[in-house]
Amino acid sequence: MSAPTNVQRMDKIVSLCKRRGFIFQSSEIYGGLNGLWDYGPLGVELKRNVKNYWWRVMVHERDDIVGLDGSILMNRVVWQASGHEDTFSDPMVDCLLTKKRFRADQIEPRSGTAYYFSGAVDVQRLLQKFDAATHGGASNVRSEIEARKNSIFSVMASWKTSPDLNLRKIESALRAELQSDKNVVSDFEYSVLVPPGKPRESAQKIALHFYAERGIENAELQGERSEAITNTTRYNPENGSLLTEPRPFNLMFKTYVGATEDESSITYLRPETAQAIFVQFKNVLEVSRKKLPFGIAQIGKAFRNEINPRNFTFRSREFEQMELEYFCRPEQGMELLEYWKEERLKFYENIGISRSRLHVLTVPNEERAFYSKGTYDIEYDFPFGAQELEGVAYRTDYDLSQHQKASGKSLEYFDEETKQKFIPHVVEPSAGVDRTVLAVICEAYAEDEAPDEKGKMETRIVLRFHPRIAPIKCAVFPLLKNKEPLVAKAKEIVDLLRPHMYVFYDESGAIGRRYRRQDEIGTPFGVTVDFETLGEKDAALRDTVTLRERDSMKQDRIAIKDLPSILISRIR
Ligand code: GAP
Repeated sequence: MSAPTNVQRMDKIVSLCKRRGFIFQSSEIYGGLNGLWDYGPLGVELKRNVKNYWWRVMVHERDDIVGLDGSILMNRVVWQASGHEDTFSDPMVDCLLTKKRFRADQIEPRSGTAYYFSGAVDVQRLLQKFDAATHGGASNVRSEIEARKNSIFSVMASWKTSPDLNLRKIESALRAELQSDKNVVSDFEYSVLVPPGKPRESAQKIALHFYAERGIENAELQGERSEAITNTTRYNPENGSLLTEPRPFNLMFKTYVGATEDESSITYLRPETAQAIFVQFKNVLEVSRKKLPFGIAQIGKAFRNEINPRNFTFRSREFEQMELEYFCRPEQGMELLEYWKEERLKFYENIGISRSRLHVLTVPNEERAFYSKGTYDIEYDFPFGAQELEGVAYRTDYDLSQHQKASGKSLEYFDEETKQKFIPHVVEPSAGVDRTVLAVICEAYAEDEAPDEKGKMETRIVLRFHPRIAPIKCAVFPLLKNKEPLVAKAKEIVDLLRPHMYVFYDESGAIGRRYRRQDEIGTPFGVTVDFETLGEKDAALRDTVTLRERDSMKQDRIAIKDLPSILISRIR
């Protein structure tokens, strides 16, 4: 079977996610809300499994890391001291025609011919205004307007300084008329980029549309000129319209705490979980009695008012982060940066992501935060391109120093051995839960062939999740639903497994269909109770079942009593 293109593949993944209850659009019945998503019954299990595994390897299996669950709303000074209030922004531009907003740094450079217009005039209305300003007199001036309508404002500017008092009066009366009706003349400069091979008329069409939007209905364009342009990012890639100049757009959602909505009650929904860790550093240090190097881990929601949410859940406005702040001595920073990069790569491999689809990007000096001495981005080959899953950054002592300065409270560490006091440095692996979930779904999605009921090969959609993160670990099927002893045995098996894992019982439809439904949601194991289980054909097979493995579709005969240990060892 030919592999679907990347766009097709992504479309299939998005549709499977909705159809099988992994991810829904938020507020869908009201038309949704851009950049916000809800995880359905299977999505929530997958997400939990990813977070639980992160917590297990980052906290429970180590002596040097403890956890924290900080509040989402914090004192505004936290965001002032961290620099977020002043600098946590993306450059944004708006399309002058459609008002659609883009991130300036995400616009692909384009080449073509730029057509410039100095404005537009509705000539009929202009003449009506002229007649109103002069009570129908000054016909010589009226014909000058008709002849030079394309430069009406420069014509009027020349009257303004004319020694002819009558012309100066007409100028001021006409200007007053034009100001009272903005739909006659626009001197707003506008331009359109037309790709090679497209005619000048297409630029004029867009420009007329632009001026019509500004109220100039039957416009004649003014001052047209053109020029070839290469690699510009100043135009809307979708329609060629000029964009506004880039402006910084702060990504934090502002809110008010308490009953009054004024300056004193402002705070923000946190845009990262890390700051709670920095401001609780001293408390956690005291209660946990850890020595450097040690870390504080946290999983929680973060919010960013992204200009362009896109690629399904990849860039959302509400998402979850899994962050570790690993505090150390200054001289350990660079070495720990390498250590954490490797640890984090292992994590992704351990949840089933192939190393060949993970890339480590060394963030160049000019793109790194000024306080960082080294940053890696771990990227995954999504169907829409290689994109960041996680950042691993050596943030030096910047954050703790900023909070010490702003709060006036010491955030220093006292080294018992050397008797030195200093602000620890920190290495931060910061991963997105939603991006990891999307990556494991993209990685797991496969189409292959499997026999149907009659042995004929048919296309099978299968999510090859690593058993450790699969939403449902094992499905249990009685061969026939109307044979009471089969049903009773299957239910016994469900009760046996349930304390250890999430199990699904299914008795409806042909067994092949039931397998297929589980394959599509990534259930790694299927247990079937058949007549052999009841010992009807061979007493030696009593209390055995078939255990089917999702990927190979291989079936083994297993004693029911061995099922928990076999499955537990494979899903851990
Ligand atoms: N404390 C550092 C920090 O927040 P970041 O690179 O801005 O660094 C870390 O974010 C991770 O959070 C990203 O690698 C990504 O996985 C996730 N993330 C950031 N913005 C996101 C968004 N809009 N939607 C989904 N995940 C996002």
